[in-house]
Amino acid sequence: MAGSTYGNIFKITTWGESHGKALGVVIDGCPAGLSLSEEDIQEYLDRRKPGKSKISTPRKEDDACEILSGVFEGKTTGTPISIMVPNTSQRSGDYSEIASYYRPGHADYTFDQKYGFRDYRGGGRSSGRETIGRVAAGAIACKLLKEMGITVMAYTKSIGPVETDPAKFDRDAILSTPTAMPDTEASARAEEYLAEKMMEKDSVGGTMECIVEGMPIGIGDPVFEKLDANLSKAIMSIGAVKAVEIGDGTAVSKTVGSKNNDAFCMEDGKVSKKTNHAGGILGGMSDGSPILIRAHVKPTPSIFRTQETVNRNGEEIEIAIKGRHDPIIVPRAVVVMESMVAITLLDALMVNMSARMDSLIEFYR
Ligand SMILES: Cc1cc2nc3c(=O)[nH]c(=O)nc-3n(C[C@H](O)[C@H](O)[C@H](O)COP(=O)(O)O)c2cc1C
Repeated sequence: MAGSTYGNIFKITTWGESHGKALGVVIDGCPAGLSLSEEDIQEYLDRRKPGKSKISTPRKEDDACEILSGVFEGKTTGTPISIMVPNTSQRSGDYSEIASYYRPGHADYTFDQKYGFRDYRGGGRSSGRETIGRVAAGAIACKLLKEMGITVMAYTKSIGPVETDPAKFDRDAILSTPTAMPDTEASARAEEYLAEKMMEKDSVGGTMECIVEGMPIGIGDPVFEKLDANLSKAIMSIGAVKAVEIGDGTAVSKTVGSKNNDAFCMEDGKVSKKTNHAGGILGGMSDGSPILIRAHVKPTPSIFRTQETVNRNGEEIEIAIKGRHDPIIVPRAVVVMESMVAITLLDALMVNMSARMDSLIEFYR
């Protein structure tokens, strides 16, 4: 199976299945000398782990990480960093039925057709648990970016019909509300809506937004390595993400050039933009404004309602999924989005170091 490795210089390989012994990541290309502890990584993993509130699956996972290599006396050594998270809450019995049929909205059917064989326990490699490796690597990427003055912040923008109000934006609420919304009032309404849908044995979709501040100008390359293209790929690779928008996103198709163009101006002796419809990227390169990205996430495919499907013998059947599933994926996926954005930006920053003769000369002479 190809495709478990991502990045050019800061390169990650995630490994493991949801019901195997452990999951994790190997990170190659992390510079030597970064202070790094298991606590740094755990802080991010805890934002992703289930069982923290009534809108999250009751499946309790410790998701405790262990750094196996690449760190000595509290600092990265420049060698591959291997991070492992043991699976402690596997209940394969919950999933044994899935072996015989295809769950709607899941990768069961496509996996079977492609490989002729699949680890059916909780989705195997297609499980949301695969994202543990991404988040562990993301924690390191975020730490490196912070050292360069770059911050990456993702949060829940909407859940079903409930939207956060930008006027009530409270950064601390992202970490304190069970929805990961930056607006406590909207979060309470979203919880009510989720409780309603859970009673109806249904699930809900939503959107997440990510803001990057402090990004230098000119990161990303025109043509195939455009920053917006690479960010879109990184975010679309997260399970259940169905659309990605940069800046004004899909709204640009309904506007006019005179409104959509961001006028340039001078601010404190530097070129700046009066607006940021472009979302901080022009021609595939960062333009110095904050980078704004949104991702649209589908409702959790595993619902407890009766659904129609087909079994491996080609018979039409009705199923009611058991097990432990979130009624919404978004609150646990925001830190995955933050991680994938950070990994992509850090890699692009490293690639950019060889873009100009003068930078090479400055570095080596
Ligand atoms: C963090 C995270 C947690 C997830 N948890 C669940 C879950 O509990 N139940 C479920 O049915 N799907 C869950 N998913 C979504 C499925 O993994 C995904 O929808 C499925 O593999 C099909 O892939 P696709 O939606 O990208 O086509 C989760 C995804 C993420 C990113």
